[in-house]
Amino acid sequence: MRLTLVFPGFAAVALAMPAPLPQEIDVGMVLAAPEPITYDPVVGATAQVVSYDFTSMLAQATAPATSVATDAAATATAIEKRGAACTSLAAGASGAPAYSPDTPAAFASNSDFASVAINAPVPTGYSNTFTNANASNSAYGYLGFTTLSTFDTAKCAAKCDAIRGCLSFNLYFERDPSVDPGSGASGCENPASVTYIKCVFWGGYVSNANANNYGQYRNKFQVLIAGSNGYTNNTLAAPAGYSDAIYYGTRAIDAPLDAQGFNTFITSKIFSGPFDARLCAAACDAQTQYAIDHPSADGTPAKKCQFFNTYILNLNDNKHPQGQYCTLYTEAWPTKYATSTGSTTSRLV
Ligand SMILES: *[C@@H]1O[C@H](CO)[C@@H](O)[C@H](O)[C@H]1NC(C)=O
Ligand SMILES: *[C@@H]1O[C@H](CO)[C@@H](O)[C@H](O)[C@H]1NC(C)=O
Repeated sequence: MRLTLVFPGFAAVALAMPAPLPQEIDVGMVLAAPEPITYDPVVGATAQVVSYDFTSMLAQATAPATSVATDAAATATAIEKRGAACTSLAAGASGAPAYSPDTPAAFASNSDFASVAINAPVPTGYSNTFTNANASNSAYGYLGFTTLSTFDTAKCAAKCDAIRGCLSFNLYFERDPSVDPGSGASGCENPASVTYIKCVFWGGYVSNANANNYGQYRNKFQVLIAGSNGYTNNTLAAPAGYSDAIYYGTRAIDAPLDAQGFNTFITSKIFSGPFDARLCAAACDAQTQYAIDHPSADGTPAKKCQFFNTYILNLNDNKHPQGQYCTLYTEAWPTKYATSTGSTTSRLV
C-alpha cells in the first residue's frame, strides 16, 4: 500500500545554504520556480472568481524524473469594480451589526463584531485557526471571494467546498465606502460607510501569522477589518491509489538509507497553484512509469515511487510562500522520520 504524507504547514528555509544533499530542500529549484500567483481580494469589488487550470497543472506534474517547476495558469475575474468618483457602490450586508458614530474608531471598537466572530459556530469538517482578528489573510493560493448578508460560517464553508483546491477560508467584517471616494478633491473623499461580510477562499493555510492585511485608505476613507476568523478543512482527500494523509505539522520527512543501503529519495517538485495532493500523486505515478520504461543499465532496482511528502514552503519568513513542495520516495517512511524543519539557518513559523 502506498502512503500519502501531507503537511500543509509552513517550513521556512533561509536563503544562505550550503549545496543541498539530494533530499534537502532544493533552494535553487525553489528560486527558479515561477513566483506563486499572489492575488489578494480586489479593492472595491464585492466578489471575485479565480480559476486555476488544473488540467494543465496535472499535465506538467507528470513530467518524470526531473525537478520540474510548474507554472500555475490562473484567471481572476472581479465583479463590480469601483465606479467613477461619488457613484454609489454595493449596499452593505443586511446582517452586519450597526455602529455609531460612523468613524474608523467606532468600527474598530464595536464589540458586536467581536461577539459575532467569537460565537460563530465552527463548520463541520473544519478547524478554527484564529478568531476575531482585525486583519484579513494574505495566504497562499488565492481563490477569490464572495460577500454574504450574514456572518454565516457554514455558508462560507459550503462555498469553499465547491471550489477545487479550497483548503481554508477567512470570514470577516469590512468597513467600506458607500460611494466611490475617487481621488483628490472628489467631493466625496470620506463618505458614509457600509459594512461588508467577506468570505475569502484560499488554497493554503490561514493563520493569525498571515492575517496581516489591516485595510487601507481609499482617498480619505479608511477601510478596516473586524471579527476576522480563519478556518481550515480537516480533510485532505487521498488521491486515487494512495492511503490517507498523515499530518506532520511543520516537519518534513528526512529518510535514512533503506535496509540495503540505497537512498530512497527520488526527486522533488514545486508547484505554484493551490495546495493539491493530487499534483504530487500524479508526479509520483509518472515517476514510477518512467522508472519501469527506463530500467537502469547496471541492474539497480527501478526507482518506483511509493510515497510522497508535501507541504507549502516559505522562504525566510511566513509571508513569502514559494509554492507546494513535493518530495518523492521509493519507500514509505513512518512518522518518526518527520524530523526536518528546514535548514539549520531556518526558523519555523
Ligand atoms: C474538505 O476537503 C475534502 C477533500 O478535498 C472535500 O471532499 C470536502 O468537501 C471538504 N469539506 C469538508 C467539510 O470536509
Ligand atoms: C489591530 O489590533 C492590534 C492589537 O490589538 C492593534 O495594536 C492595532 O492597532 C489594530 N490595528 C488596527 C488597524 O485597528
